[in-house]
Amino acid sequence: MFYQPKNGHQLPHNPLKAIVTPRPIGWIGTRSKEGALNLAPYSFFNVICDNPPLVMFCSSGYKDSVAFVEETGEFTANMVGAHLAKEMNATSVNSPRGVSEFDYAGLTPAACEMIKAPRVAEAYAALECVAVEVKRLTGKDGALAESYMVIGEIVGVHIDEAILVDGRIDITKSQPVSRLGYMDFATTDKVYEMFRPKWEE
Ligand SMILES: Cc1cc2nc3c(=O)[nH]c(=O)nc-3n(C[C@H](O)[C@H](O)[C@H](O)COP(=O)(O)O)c2cc1C
Repeated sequence: MFYQPKNGHQLPHNPLKAIVTPRPIGWIGTRSKEGALNLAPYSFFNVICDNPPLVMFCSSGYKDSVAFVEETGEFTANMVGAHLAKEMNATSVNSPRGVSEFDYAGLTPAACEMIKAPRVAEAYAALECVAVEVKRLTGKDGALAESYMVIGEIVGVHIDEAILVDGRIDITKSQPVSRLGYMDFATTDKVYEMFRPKWEE
């Protein structure tokens, strides 16, 4: 089949988010200007560059995570292991501004080294980020959409040493959870290696 998004897909559910999969989940921790803590999962998320080290998440609508980044200029991107999947999902609750999803999901907010935003103590890794840009997105017609992309530079990295084996992150230990579209999720716990080919004349 083929469809143009502007004409609709004629399927019972939008397939787009099930096509580009698996998508990593950035579990975004923020602090408001009044000091309220916030935590929410974003699967429009990725590391987009390593020099400088940049991450991105995108909000469909102007949500608390974006508002708090605009207020304080900082956020954490925490990584979700299989043992935290339920808690991650719980933090997607649409709670009023000022209610901490850390409390709601029974998670521990830990202090960061370089920024004031909270990180998830139970996460296998957390990236401390300083916002570089908050951009309201447009389509090709230039019309402003209700979508907001946040780009942040990683200024600190936490890794739970329990997932390190011989100095490398062992995916069978971190067991990252990703989003597959619809209400589907996956845990990555199998890995295979491939080496890049060398061109020989
Ligand atoms: C796995 C998962 C991924 C999500 N990804 C996004 C996303 O990329 N963008 C978005 O706007 N909402 C996403 N959501 C929904 C938000 O987490 C939800 O709207 C949340 O209440 C936003 O919280 P906030 O207002 O505190 O930022 C996702 C939810 C789940 C469970």
